[in-house]
Amino acid sequence: ADGYETVLVERRGRTALLTLNRPKALNALNLQVMREVVAAAEALDRDPECGCIVLTGSARAFAAGADIKEMQPRGYLDMYLADWFAAWDRLGQLRTPTVAAVAGYALGGGCELAMLCDILLAADTAVFGQPEIKLGVIPGIGGSQRLTRAVGKAKAMELCLTGRTMDAVEAERAGLVSRIVPADELVEEAMAVAETVAGMSLPVAMMAKESVARAFETTLAEGVRFERRLFHAVFATADQKEGMAAFTDKRPPVFGHR
Ligand code: CAA
Repeated sequence: ADGYETVLVERRGRTALLTLNRPKALNALNLQVMREVVAAAEALDRDPECGCIVLTGSARAFAAGADIKEMQPRGYLDMYLADWFAAWDRLGQLRTPTVAAVAGYALGGGCELAMLCDILLAADTAVFGQPEIKLGVIPGIGGSQRLTRAVGKAKAMELCLTGRTMDAVEAERAGLVSRIVPADELVEEAMAVAETVAGMSLPVAMMAKESVARAFETTLAEGVRFERRLFHAVFATADQKEGMAAFTDKRPPVFGHR
């Protein structure tokens, strides 16, 4: 009904599940996948009834990278004028919280796509890496920046320079993923996390997300000031009144999402 071929969109209450659906190419991220995933995510982002978006792939591959065959023949001006991969930035600019549920390969653009999401859950089968160097290129969807911020220089340098991959245990230890779950429970668990987030006040969740994201973009003093201003702002919401009244009354809160 939505006309997408490479991504399946499923709504479940206040949550949404986006499933990459290009199995023959291990969900390699070509232009069509980029266009469709970004369009689907932006449509959900505009929907005030959607409180959290989960992005997943298949059991074998979250995504095995950008589409190598599509890039192979291109030249510099081609890539520059198309601003190749720039549309992926829009996924990182969504206001709705996002969860990446990663099983199998998350390589190159696949790893970068997972890192564009807010919460990253890994199945015990997940494999992360930035193997672009083995193709004679470097990461192009933020991998050298986000991986370095997530796991530090030592591991990021090794992964980007040798193309070595990381399993789920190493990725969790390094701080790339928040948790490891059994592969057959991955999507169910990610949807449960999404439902929890979507049960919160949407604007307050947006502000929490914005505040954490700011930590990657500014100094500590500016970040703390930014947080403080948002903290004051939440006192203008009905959901703050409800959340604190519910605590005082010893009952669960019912957020009106505003
Ligand atoms: N681009 C295009 N096609 C891809 C692909 C990719 N990144 N990854 C896999 N495929 C295709 C394969 O070509 C193959 O297609 P055919 O059946 O038509 O030959 C199909 O998916 C299945 O793949 P394999 O037969 O290779 O499966 P495997 O189980 O033997 O190996 C793998 C799995 C180790 C992930 C291997 O497919 C692989 O190394 N893929 C490439 C990984 C990679 O280098 N990713 C980085 C891409 S560059 C990038 O992402 C740039 C950036 O920064 C954004």
